[in-house]
Amino acid sequence: MYPITRLRRLRRTPELRDLVRETSISAKDFIAPLFVCHGENIKNEIPAMPGQYHFSVDKVVEECRELYECGVSGVMLFGIPAVKDATGSEAYHDHGIVQQAIRAIKAAVPQLIVIADVCMCEYTDHGHCGIIHDHYVDNDATLKILSRQAVSYAQAGVDMVAPSDMMDGRILAMRKALDENGFVNLPIMAYSAKFSSAFYGPFREAANSAPSFGDRRSYQMDPANSDEAMREIEADIEEGADIVMVKPALPYLDIIQRATSRFDVPMAAYNVSGEYSMIKAAAEKGWIDEDRIVMESLIAIKRAGAKIIITYFAKEVAKKLMNK
Ligand code: PBG
Repeated sequence: MYPITRLRRLRRTPELRDLVRETSISAKDFIAPLFVCHGENIKNEIPAMPGQYHFSVDKVVEECRELYECGVSGVMLFGIPAVKDATGSEAYHDHGIVQQAIRAIKAAVPQLIVIADVCMCEYTDHGHCGIIHDHYVDNDATLKILSRQAVSYAQAGVDMVAPSDMMDGRILAMRKALDENGFVNLPIMAYSAKFSSAFYGPFREAANSAPSFGDRRSYQMDPANSDEAMREIEADIEEGADIVMVKPALPYLDIIQRATSRFDVPMAAYNVSGEYSMIKAAAEKGWIDEDRIVMESLIAIKRAGAKIIITYFAKEVAKKLMNK
């Protein structure tokens, strides 16, 4: 009790504050999302995401080298296909853009962890995360396609698959398909509690993946639900998920914290496109101190309990941490 206790004593100098700091971040915590497109020598900035690009395979390899050199653990690949169709067929073709990128990155930077997002929405002409029957995303028909996509990425040499579709039963379906094809050691990072969020807006512009009708509320979660998020995470763990994820990150820190106090599986959080672009936009206007806001945001995600942070800030922050 005051005046015996004075919490400010340990805040007096930077050294004391360093000594008692409870949470730290390092480049090893980060996974950098990257968008890959067809073509050569392409590095086009995404208008809604300043500092993020569409990379052709040759350029994505360069980016991966740089990320590896600044200590970032891995990358998460998203594909911009040449053509989109009703069943998203480029997603599971051996020559698909993500398959090409996986091969090239693993050949050039073998120690960088390459994770591939498994979902249909970038590849379907209707922009939904699965196969449509009667204007409804057909859960069980979609599981077959997602499993094929996961196996195809595995055959290309990916280190981990990350299903983001939110179909029921996808982790079990994918685990079985991977095992049957000899990939018993390939981990699955499940986007377990993925909320139907307006924070994905800039990503949908980047991936041209906004649904052409309706929205994703019949498969992604209602932002109002926390108990249901625990059920989603629990189901994914039972189905064999090796890592579980909460997405978006900053508006859902309560979900991250609740899940980490309840489950022992490594927790990832996805600091999504809208979280990134809002900071970039406000910084461009001179309204905020970008560096401090970014550090504070990432520390908050870690403090809530995430071990792994998927963030578009990965490279910038990793570089800053290196120069310290
Ligand atoms: C694909 C997918 C999305 C994101 C990651 N995987 C978009 C969506 O569900 O609409 C969003 C990532 C971001 O906003 O940074 N289903």
